[in-house]
Amino acid sequence: MLAMASAGVSAANKAVVTPGKQDSARIIPKEIYGQFAEHLGTCIYGGIWVGEDSPIPNTKGYRNDVLQAMRDLKVPVLRWPGGCFADEYHWKDGIGPRSKRPRMVNNNWGGTVEDNSFGTHEFFNLCELIGTEPYLSGNVGSGTVAELAEWVEYITAEDGPQALVRKANGREKPWHLKYLGVGNESWGCGGNFLPENYADQYRRYQTYCRNFDGNHLYKIASGASDYDYNWTDVLMKKAGNMMDGISLHYYTVTGWTGSKGSATRFSDDDYYWTLGKCLEIGDEVKKHSAIMDKYDPEKRVGLLVDEWGTWWDEEPGTVRGHLYQQNTMRDAMVAALSLNTFHGLTDRVKMTNIAQIANVLQSMVLTKDDKMVLTPTYYVFKMYVPHQDAEWIPLDIKTDVRQVRDNRSVPTLSATASSKDGVVTISLANIDLKEPCEVEIPLSGIIAKPAAAKVSGEILSSANIADYNDFDQAEKVTLKKFDKAKIRNGVLSLTMPAKSIVTLSVK
Ligand code: AHR
Repeated sequence: MLAMASAGVSAANKAVVTPGKQDSARIIPKEIYGQFAEHLGTCIYGGIWVGEDSPIPNTKGYRNDVLQAMRDLKVPVLRWPGGCFADEYHWKDGIGPRSKRPRMVNNNWGGTVEDNSFGTHEFFNLCELIGTEPYLSGNVGSGTVAELAEWVEYITAEDGPQALVRKANGREKPWHLKYLGVGNESWGCGGNFLPENYADQYRRYQTYCRNFDGNHLYKIASGASDYDYNWTDVLMKKAGNMMDGISLHYYTVTGWTGSKGSATRFSDDDYYWTLGKCLEIGDEVKKHSAIMDKYDPEKRVGLLVDEWGTWWDEEPGTVRGHLYQQNTMRDAMVAALSLNTFHGLTDRVKMTNIAQIANVLQSMVLTKDDKMVLTPTYYVFKMYVPHQDAEWIPLDIKTDVRQVRDNRSVPTLSATASSKDGVVTISLANIDLKEPCEVEIPLSGIIAKPAAAKVSGEILSSANIADYNDFDQAEKVTLKKFDKAKIRNGVLSLTMPAKSIVTLSVK
């Protein structure tokens, strides 16, 4: 225990963070910062897409404020169209003149009528507009092999029958498509397959998804959720040699039945429990990775955590099944701790996609008509942009550890570091609700001339852990300049306020 307290006066917690030896091969793939956009609630319609005729300022139908927010986050990859929606989606309904596109019922998400006005062209054009890599989730549950094979052809072929249809619909050149998911949650909403049966289906579907005209697919099998190790085992055994990646879904959720708890009203105990549950993602990844190691010791196959984040009860008064939830400083902590964890696991974890980008679960932005707010989680992703494609620096962290409900433990200080272009970026989270944390970081080994180094920083914090941004208080939780870090004798030191997240740039 490093924390000290005397004569009833509480003192700051203390932590020492010692950087280890860098390995130039350990780059944090930018895809760790992936996002997810599903046809669910107002994620697509209202959140991203308003159509060209909307009074909401837009570029070719995409709302300008959200476009800018996505650009500022340098979103590296965007998963679409689901989620559970993917396995009921028939892509041919979403091409051609919008007025002629058939409607469907979004059975998974509140029975809302989907008019298919956001389809393949709208998605791929969005990815081009914001400079992001598309990640397509294909329909295995209610689709056919031919349907998925033709979708790939439509998107990526220079010529041929599908390319001709695409050209007739106004897109001459093929788009680029790397990431192809073969189904989503195929053990559940994606078809309720048994693992052996899905493994056979995966082998079959992936056979017909071809590489056209220099496009090269990275094929992703629909993987396990949470603690289902058998799914990973069977898939790797039967189809591991035919995939580039396998997914894993892990939500910070109290359970799958009954109330999940309010996003904005929670006790201190609930808060600490949430962080314990969120950190368990590290153990889960390691367990699934160990199974993958049996069949793929060279770690050729990536583990893609393509859905993660907090899942609370829907906000009162919102449409049931639309999964609209608020986002507090607690969610920001979950984001920071999860990203710190992923940074240390990139020998196997090649991509993650937080759920979801707008108006659904732990989102980056919330929109209402022409208004948009950036969530506390958005600000964590913003602070962490410099870690994208940077060289990971392992850290030895000496800090207190707090025992929390359900026999989990949470370190008081969580940290991660990376370097790129001569700048070292260090991100720190003090999870303690009451006490500040005094942190010391010796810089020798990661900075050429520690005595001459300069530091600047940003902080995300709030008066209450349950604070959030809303349409009448858009900037309640926001990034601020942090100038309290000092370097003396080659040691960086700072005092982090309670419940704060700080990112420092040192050069
Ligand atoms: O993100 C919401 C849903 O969670 C997705 O549609 C599904 O894949 C998962 O169960």
